[in-house]
Amino acid sequence: MVSKLSVKRGLERRLNLFEEELENLVQEAISSTGAPAMDLARDVLLSGGKRLRPLLAILTYEASGGKDVKEVMDLALSAELIHTATLIHDDIYDQSRFRRGRPTIHSSHGLAHAIIAGDYLFALGFSKGGRYEMDVVDMIASSCTNIARGELQQFNHIGDLTTTPEDYYSIIDGKTVGPFATGTACAALVAGASKEVSDMMYDFGTEFGRAFQLVDDLLDLTGDPEMGKPRGTDVHEGKMTLPIIHALTILHGSEREHLADVLNNFSDDRWNELTTLLEISGSFSYTRQLIQNHVDRALEIISNLPSSDAKDLISEVALISRNRKV
Ligand code: IPE
Ligand code: IPE
Ligand code: MG
Ligand code: MG
Repeated sequence: MVSKLSVKRGLERRLNLFEEELENLVQEAISSTGAPAMDLARDVLLSGGKRLRPLLAILTYEASGGKDVKEVMDLALSAELIHTATLIHDDIYDQSRFRRGRPTIHSSHGLAHAIIAGDYLFALGFSKGGRYEMDVVDMIASSCTNIARGELQQFNHIGDLTTTPEDYYSIIDGKTVGPFATGTACAALVAGASKEVSDMMYDFGTEFGRAFQLVDDLLDLTGDPEMGKPRGTDVHEGKMTLPIIHALTILHGSEREHLADVLNNFSDDRWNELTTLLEISGSFSYTRQLIQNHVDRALEIISNLPSSDAKDLISEVALISRNRKV
């Protein structure tokens, strides 16, 4: 059993290492030709993301036998830079006004600036990931093309009340799960682990990422302003998240019609109607159960790694993410 204090210290130590690298990179960029673009991107980059992708990359590297954490830093930076780039662009598609507690770039500076800032961070991130062997670069590239696929597929299902759980998993595997799985699989390879261990860490990242997106869906329906992004964005946008897909499948007759009406004509004064229908259909508890299943499978996979502090911390990160409120 790992004490709370040692978990906190263990995670902070890795997060501080990462933050230092990121700040160095920002400083370097500010004094280079990329300065105006980094000026635009710096705020969202440095304003309080959870850093889960770089954290998992660092921990996986250590738990897979890596000895010099510097070796994995470019991968960790690549993951966070590409993630932040996709957030900047995602907020344009989703017309989201706040991110990480601040106005989004497109709402403060306009569309063109946000597109450029996202492209800039993406290029910077890919250049960091591109320093590794070809297997790693190929995996990063395919996770990026899959984000585009997932985001486009999600568009095709906006407002589509016939969206299935299979459609949903295909969407989230592209937009969210792939980057987590790729990060952990690549970190194992960078540590010099076998293909077998890397594949196992891909499976871990997949289970972790699915749980993570399901928690994000729940928070959109139940979360508070501390999230740094407003609740309800998904519903306003007509996004088919799993709790809603589940409720549409379970409810029948007048209740199903009521739900369809709430979703098709949603406004903030209909929150209670929506929440009641999701409760009647058991959709919150169903989603919580799915989250638990994915986290259980993630923990089961991790248990195959040899004992180490990093291994224990990976399990803790999975548990913390399950219970997160932001
Ligand atoms: C937000 O990711 C986008 C999703 C995949 C749900 P995070 O919740 O990891 O965002 P930050 O990096 O902490 O801001
Ligand atoms: C974000 O997905 C996924 C990517 C960044 C590619 P969402 O649109 O569901 O995440 P939030 O709710 O904006 O953070
Ligand atoms: Mg989106
Ligand atoms: Mg979004």
